[in-house]
Amino acid sequence: MPEIASKTFYLETFGCQMNAHDSEKVVGTLMAQGYRQVPTEEEAGLVLYNTCSIRDKAEQKVFHRLADFRKLAAQGKKFGVLGCVAQQEGEKIFERAPHVSLVAGSASYRNLPQMLVQLEAGNQRVTGLDDRQTDETFETEFTQRTNPCRAYITIIEGCDKFCAYCVVPYTRGKERSRKSDSVLAEARRIADGGYTEIQLLGQNVSSYRDPTGKRSFAELLSAVGEVPGIRRVRFTTSHPRDFTRDIVAALDAVPTLCDHVHLPVQSGSSRVLKAMLREYTREQYLERIGWLKASRRQPSITTDVIVGFPGETETDFEETLSLLDQVGFDGVFSFKYSPRPNTPALSLPDSIPDQEKARRLAVLMEHQRGIQVKNYRRHVGQTLQVMVEGRREARQQWIGRCSQNKTVNFTGAGTDLKPGEYRNVYVTQSFPNSLAGEMVV
Ligand code: SAH
Ligand code: SF4
Ligand code: F3S
Repeated sequence: MPEIASKTFYLETFGCQMNAHDSEKVVGTLMAQGYRQVPTEEEAGLVLYNTCSIRDKAEQKVFHRLADFRKLAAQGKKFGVLGCVAQQEGEKIFERAPHVSLVAGSASYRNLPQMLVQLEAGNQRVTGLDDRQTDETFETEFTQRTNPCRAYITIIEGCDKFCAYCVVPYTRGKERSRKSDSVLAEARRIADGGYTEIQLLGQNVSSYRDPTGKRSFAELLSAVGEVPGIRRVRFTTSHPRDFTRDIVAALDAVPTLCDHVHLPVQSGSSRVLKAMLREYTREQYLERIGWLKASRRQPSITTDVIVGFPGETETDFEETLSLLDQVGFDGVFSFKYSPRPNTPALSLPDSIPDQEKARRLAVLMEHQRGIQVKNYRRHVGQTLQVMVEGRREARQQWIGRCSQNKTVNFTGAGTDLKPGEYRNVYVTQSFPNSLAGEMVV
């Protein structure tokens, strides 16, 4: 009799889109092994958490969740920790949460079937932690896509940039790209499956190097955009250091590539950027923004910012604010610096008190809000093509997204739209984070 009675599993995902997509692959792999997914921990024989350790708060979440459900272990349920906390903490997790019997990092998921056999055999400490130096990517024919509108394809795994604050190179291992022919074959399968939107994923998509040498990142992007049936292609995340002009040229040349580029800047101060080991200056970042602004498309630009990096002065912080003004981002994900294990910045004193980090974060968010109010207002009076994502019944509104990745809520379509359909919407109102309007018939 198998140890994991009923072969049922529950999976909860934390972290970035790469984790979300990894989970789609994990679900598919488990289902191919005869497992069935259930919606709650209580119903499952195997409880899995796919974890994130980008900031301390993210890491703590999984340990809280494990503590919350600890009593279920007494009923014979098995617990597994996957993802970035698993890779970072390794076997220490067995000490900290003794009811966990599987710890596996993202580079080991192709061995999940063997790990499941070990779990079923009653092994209390199954690990998949040794593969970070692998050359292989996790490709599987078993992906169980859960997003009804958007299909993800990982084109590059890992990261070799080693920014001073970041755990990713340690949790996801070295950079390895997938063959462009394999990416295109998956894009065609996705289109055949009825999807019209593809998002290419990687911690650093702009560092993509085709192992077969056939296509640059810009060429791959264009080729995915030309797959019959595909109407929208997005990509995330690009690193300013390898963001090249041919990517801008591809956006101008291929209409299916979306009007949006996410280009994390982290700081507007060249001094802080140097300490962060980002390998570009404020001026070099602004040069890339200049290319985008001079392009025919003039895509929407969003970014990530860290406040309170060790040694960040008030003047450095003000330089970040002035960069926000200069670029006029459509969205900024901003974070307080969080010291992380193994990273070079850990040797620097975490010099900015939490209260000051919080103040800078609040100032930055308020500042950016003003910029977005103006940016979003420009869309009032425009007609935008919107892909339907869902419905907000309480407000009798449809929710969708335009090519620029902005949320557009709209009315006037009755109740018969399905996720993934496209409609034209005349924008009547704007907010700092969304647009609202009416469907055009
Ligand atoms: N590969 C992407 C970033 C992925 S992590 C890039 O290079 O831009 C997503 C964001 O989390 C980062 O852009 C950064 O803004 C933030 N982040 C990463 N490590 C952090 C840390 N130690 N403290 C606070 N924010 C962090
Ligand atoms: Fe982290 Fe830097 Fe790599 Fe992005 S580029 S994942 S911030 S090390
Ligand atoms: Fe988090 Fe790992 Fe993604 S640390 S942000 S889940 S790569």
